[in-house]
Amino acid sequence: MIITSITYKNFRNIGETTLALSEGVNILCGNNAQGKTNALEGVYIFAGGRSFRTPREKELIRFGEKSASLELSYHTAERNRSLSIKFTSDGKRQCEKNGVKLRKMSEFIGNFRAVLFCPGHLAIVREGPSMRRNFLDVALSQLEPVYVASLQRYNAVLARRNKLLDDWQNQSPASRSTLDLWDEQLAREAAMISAKRAQYVERLGEIVDGIFAEMTSSRESVRLEYKKPMTEGEYMDALKNLREREIRLGTTLCGTHRDDIAIYLNGREARLYGSQGQQRSVALAMKLAEGAISKEKSGEWPVFLLDDILSELDEERREYVLGGLTGRQVLITACERGLFAQKGGSLWHVADGTYVKEDGE
Ligand SMILES: Nc1ncnc2c1ncn2[C@@H]1O[C@H](COP(=O)(O)OP(=O)(O)O)[C@@H](O)[C@H]1O
Ligand SMILES: [Mg+2]
Repeated sequence: MIITSITYKNFRNIGETTLALSEGVNILCGNNAQGKTNALEGVYIFAGGRSFRTPREKELIRFGEKSASLELSYHTAERNRSLSIKFTSDGKRQCEKNGVKLRKMSEFIGNFRAVLFCPGHLAIVREGPSMRRNFLDVALSQLEPVYVASLQRYNAVLARRNKLLDDWQNQSPASRSTLDLWDEQLAREAAMISAKRAQYVERLGEIVDGIFAEMTSSRESVRLEYKKPMTEGEYMDALKNLREREIRLGTTLCGTHRDDIAIYLNGREARLYGSQGQQRSVALAMKLAEGAISKEKSGEWPVFLLDDILSELDEERREYVLGGLTGRQVLITACERGLFAQKGGSLWHVADGTYVKEDGE
């Protein structure tokens, strides 16, 4: 899919701006704190349904204003589409697709797809499991609306279950007995989520290994494994066995909120034994593979959003990423334009929430 234009109104430090994007590489260049990431954040909201920087939507509204809005025009191989979203200071959100109001967020997510890559992602191999789970949730949510719904139900059940466990001593027998019900619901959603994640990780692993072989001239191999998928019955059994401990510790000890992707590099756990360079390469490969799966599932390349990533990479990896993204639409932010010796595409100079397009030759 290709973005033709995006309009920002009172979004972050942007008063009102429309960016008409090019099909290939689009570079937003400028000093720090000028609005480069803000522009990418706006695009990403159409893919993820929320900001990648904050869960608090009020922060998105320009200081002193009552609402912020974004409008995206894009096309797929088949048709032109538009999406819009408006955030108001009373915490409300309004979404439209092709001019028609949407009632649920799950109708909004999944239309437009993007792969975001920011410096934090380079640590995905080394960091704790929550970052890897988040990687899966973000990727799967864009591909499967049922996944979003399941995840929302899971998180709601988990929160209520934890609350009950945490305050167990003060609960009446009646409310204690609801735990069985939460177990059933938790097991049902967990089984669904873990099956989807495991399937995704299997394909991701194949692609990552292929990319890695290419990056390292087949010197190194990568294997990914989801830890660990369980069926509904297995979750029920595990919860039954853990019940006493859960009551004692006041929290849910089993479920997809504790799962992880194990990443092996040349047969050893990359988190423990990989060099920083190797870990970064795996992270890059995972992001490129995320895009490839999106293309496999939908027939369309997602839009790639690279926030400040190129300055973090050495020459070789930078070349690899840019080479791997030819023929796709890419939005890149950077402080120095010197990083791009490339031809074609568009460049904007960003200063204080304004975007001035440089004339191409
Ligand atoms: N809600 C808001 N209203 C006005 N300005 C904002 C808002 N949120 C952030 N900003 C401003 O946006 C700037 C940061 O923009 P950002 O896109 O992150 O910078 P960069 O160009 O370094 O990527 C800061 O100057 C910050 O004060
Ligand atoms: Mg930035």
